Amino acid sequence: MTKKFYITTPIYYSNGVPHIGHAYSSLIADTIASYHRLGHEDVRFCTGVDENSQKVVESAESLGMETMAYADMMAGKHREVWDGIGIRYTDFIRTTETRHRDYVQQVLQKSFDAGDIYEGFYEGLYCVGCEGFKKESDLVDGKCPDHPNKLLSYLKEKNYFFRLSKYQDKILKFYESHPDFVQPRTRYNEIIEFVRGWLEDFSISRETNKFGIPLPFDATQVTYVWYDALFNYLTVVQNDEKKWWPADMHVIGKDIVRFHGIYWPAMLWSAGYEAPHQLLTTGHFTVDGQKMSKSIGNVIDPVAYISEYSGDMLTLYLFTAFPIGEDGDFSRDQAILTYNAKLSNNLGNLLNRAIALALKLDGRISGSVWKVWSDKIGQYISLMDTSDLKGSLELAFAYATEINQYVEENAPWKMDIEIPEQREKLENILFILLSNLRKISIMLLPFFDLKMRELLTRIGTSYDDSISLSDNLAHDPSEFYIAEKGEPLYMRITTSK
Ligand code: MSP
Repeated sequence: MTKKFYITTPIYYSNGVPHIGHAYSSLIADTIASYHRLGHEDVRFCTGVDENSQKVVESAESLGMETMAYADMMAGKHREVWDGIGIRYTDFIRTTETRHRDYVQQVLQKSFDAGDIYEGFYEGLYCVGCEGFKKESDLVDGKCPDHPNKLLSYLKEKNYFFRLSKYQDKILKFYESHPDFVQPRTRYNEIIEFVRGWLEDFSISRETNKFGIPLPFDATQVTYVWYDALFNYLTVVQNDEKKWWPADMHVIGKDIVRFHGIYWPAMLWSAGYEAPHQLLTTGHFTVDGQKMSKSIGNVIDPVAYISEYSGDMLTLYLFTAFPIGEDGDFSRDQAILTYNAKLSNNLGNLLNRAIALALKLDGRISGSVWKVWSDKIGQYISLMDTSDLKGSLELAFAYATEINQYVEENAPWKMDIEIPEQREKLENILFILLSNLRKISIMLLPFFDLKMRELLTRIGTSYDDSISLSDNLAHDPSEFYIAEKGEPLYMRITTSK
């Protein structure tokens, strides 16, 4: 039976158009989804918008728009961004959809019936930026550290609460028996430390908000946006839960790891579901040393960026500039330099060399003796299997460097094709070059699908979608064919743009 793989991005608040920081999560999920698809697995990849938020209501009001009309417009803009940068999601969810409202009401009722939801009274601070409750100890100079420009609201109202405290031991045991639940390890340690402290019950409804999902057991209240948002991951697979749940991976930012790492498993258990398999937690990055902000004017629109430069440049740089989980900086100049060095020069050189030599030999190359860099395959698979995208890319480019060096050392261009011995030697070197170039392209396929498929076609091979990626890597064609010189695969980009 084909293995399933279910991966999700966070659902993005729809009161703004996604910027490059949001695109980072989607590109990571897209690459991992692609790797599993290429691994011959049945992949479900879900993204969407988080709409039942006070932010959405406020943004609509500020434009003088009706909330739903605004939400419709923004959901369209989000899809345009993801389609524009080539994110290959299988599902897009809006939390204002009926299928979601009905589903959330069902799970709320289950938890209510299980005695995990009770009526109480909330009094305290709330940050609309985080859509989260704040204690005095969370504040810096009386403000939310993540949203210092937003005023905190003071809430005093009847609410329903979720009995999180009941799940404290279960959460701790779960963490102890699932050491890979939160990646990378530093975030896992952070969460487990937090869970060891006191887990308070949390409010899961609002009396004063009107936009949202009404509680099934008290229609005067709407569901707290995070309670509804997290269940999006189940809403999309509700018709085939047995197959798809638990999700294999939620890609999330460091700012939302507590919601996913603590609230979410408890909410799931309470409603009778298993916890997801893994949370892949990403860091945040600045742009050219500064936090992205509308007032500074450094917010990068991913669609505009890739149409000016290239999607492959964005992916390559975002994934290699800093490891997943760490904070980093996006330098526009470094992005171009990295693209030129790795794609245009290093990989481009291998292809150019192969073309020049193959055309000397009328394009068709079959080999007899060839050198294997087989250790690379195992290393690559284990890096990809642990979502080390930086490590995998670096391995593929280091591999390309080695093959370039091998070609230089053997100087096949010096061989005289009229002398049979030298011609045979040239053929063998070229066969080695092409076999390894093919492997490098396959390793890069989850990252740069279109270009790598083009490269494979240009050397007379293709990816076999009916077998796994590791089998594609292990198997070698007996012949390559290069028909023409063609354009450079990656044109150099100048930094003076
Ligand atoms: N709606 C919630 C998620 C609910 S999931 C059930 C939310 N939305 S968000 O739009 O504010 O953020 C979505 C993701 O984008 C978060 O994971 C956040 O960490 C990420 N990023 C936002 N800015 C970013 C950077 N500058 N850099 C990297 N990731 C960034 O939170």
